[in-house]
Amino acid sequence: MTNRKLRVGVIFGGRSGEHEVSLVSAASVLDALDRSRYEVVPIGIARDGRWLSSPQALQLLRERTDVTSETECVLVPEPNRQGLMVVSGTGEPVAPLDVVIPMIHGTYGEDGTLQGLLELANIPYVGAGVLGSALGMDKIIQKQLFIHAGLRVAKYTWATSTDCTGATRKVVREVERTLRYPVFVKPANTGSSVGIVKAHNRKELLAGIPVACSYDRRVIFEQGILNAREIECSILGNDDPLVSALGEIIPSNEFYDYDAKYVDGKSMAIIPARLPRRTVAQIQRMARIAYRAIDCAGMARADFFLGRKSGVITINELNTIPGFTSISMYPKLWEAGGVSFSALLDRLIALALERHAQKSGLRRFYDPRQEWYRR
Ligand SMILES: Nc1ncnc2c1ncn2[C@@H]1O[C@H](COP(=O)(O)OP(=O)(O)O)[C@@H](O)[C@H]1O
Ligand SMILES: [Mg+2]
Repeated sequence: MTNRKLRVGVIFGGRSGEHEVSLVSAASVLDALDRSRYEVVPIGIARDGRWLSSPQALQLLRERTDVTSETECVLVPEPNRQGLMVVSGTGEPVAPLDVVIPMIHGTYGEDGTLQGLLELANIPYVGAGVLGSALGMDKIIQKQLFIHAGLRVAKYTWATSTDCTGATRKVVREVERTLRYPVFVKPANTGSSVGIVKAHNRKELLAGIPVACSYDRRVIFEQGILNAREIECSILGNDDPLVSALGEIIPSNEFYDYDAKYVDGKSMAIIPARLPRRTVAQIQRMARIAYRAIDCAGMARADFFLGRKSGVITINELNTIPGFTSISMYPKLWEAGGVSFSALLDRLIALALERHAQKSGLRRFYDPRQEWYRR
């Protein structure tokens, strides 16, 4: 190993409803990475899926520039190159990568697909692996695993978009049989509240179904939890993760929708959340259980509802690539615990390398006593 700086690829953009959110997260990450330790390689994925590695990739995507004339690069699913290749080039990697930070929220970035490519390419990466990422994105299967781990989740039912279009009345009947309004209608696999509708009655339910179906093949219907506070906890680590202090979100809208999260700038985050010590400990314990239940690694943010009167704690979801701007809850909670944004990135990179080394040490082959397969 030479003593050159670690080459860190930061991937952003992507084919997701959270493309723009990713650009903002990535800008903070690119800004905070310690240049005395890392050589940073920005990797933008345009809305059409094209990969770009120009130093201006972030700017190009932000300005929605036509990128068709930019040099396109790819990551090959082959473990000996470990870097970006120019599509029409000679076959030499233009930028070997030591580690990647997939800073893409949502589909094709947070859902295990990008993680699968990085596994094949044998490049260490920050955050959960293929399984944890896929489970972290899927609001239906994730809930089933949480229940199995003994955690309380909102009452729910789900349907495929085929059910929703072909047998709408049956779906509505099932929703109304199992849940009370308001009901949250959500695509199973999105984030940032994209495609989520809060239905207060049948009319709004019927209007929400096609919205959710336009984002995913499966839709989840959840009992709206009323009169609850939204509490979040950051998790950092691999097999024995640390949990942060808790934060509380005060959404500016009726629920924490896309505008309340990013656009109107009126939602508030309270750090640390004002809660009794016992409640804090209980939520932190639940966060660790949830993290383990879906096989997370590196980082995640666990989100909860806390009944104002009942004190009941319900887990809402786990985000494996949480918002990462300098004012986002995930890094802010660590900052409150004395870990700066840059130091957090150092820790995440170290965790990625640790996990990769652990996996690299596993046996991949089995040598049978006889060459029976040649017969
Ligand atoms: N079952 C529920 N009861 C009450 N509020 C909910 C419920 N589900 C979602 N919400 C509201 O909608 C927001 C977004 O839902 P969430 O499931 O977290 O989706 P996303 O993955 O897009 O963040 C939550 O932060 C909360 O404000
Ligand atoms: Mg959420």
